[in-house]
Amino acid sequence: AYVITQPCIGTKDASCVDVCPVDCIHPGPGEAGYDEHEQLYINPDECIDCGACEPACPVTAIFEESAVPAEWKQWIKINADFFQGA
Ligand code: SF4
Ligand code: F3S
Repeated sequence: AYVITQPCIGTKDASCVDVCPVDCIHPGPGEAGYDEHEQLYINPDECIDCGACEPACPVTAIFEESAVPAEWKQWIKINADFFQGA
């Protein structure tokens, strides 16, 4: 699945939402200490790996799971946990 990472925080351009064919990108709270609805998240169970969202993001926040930069690897779990209600 694709994953939304740190650059989305505080930007939330939402161009990704417009191009996602399965409507699996949703707003949610950021990490502890950030305001609510601080970034958007991709539901890993619904993402079909089409890749449309990646180039649509103006701040390069979206990566295929295996291509997430090392410093943002924790966002893989953050995205997954959000949809599990964790
Ligand atoms: Fe949606 Fe495609 Fe991005 Fe997955 S890769 S979140 S299906 S636009
Ligand atoms: Fe965030 Fe980029 Fe989408 S800033 S809302 S991941 S277009």
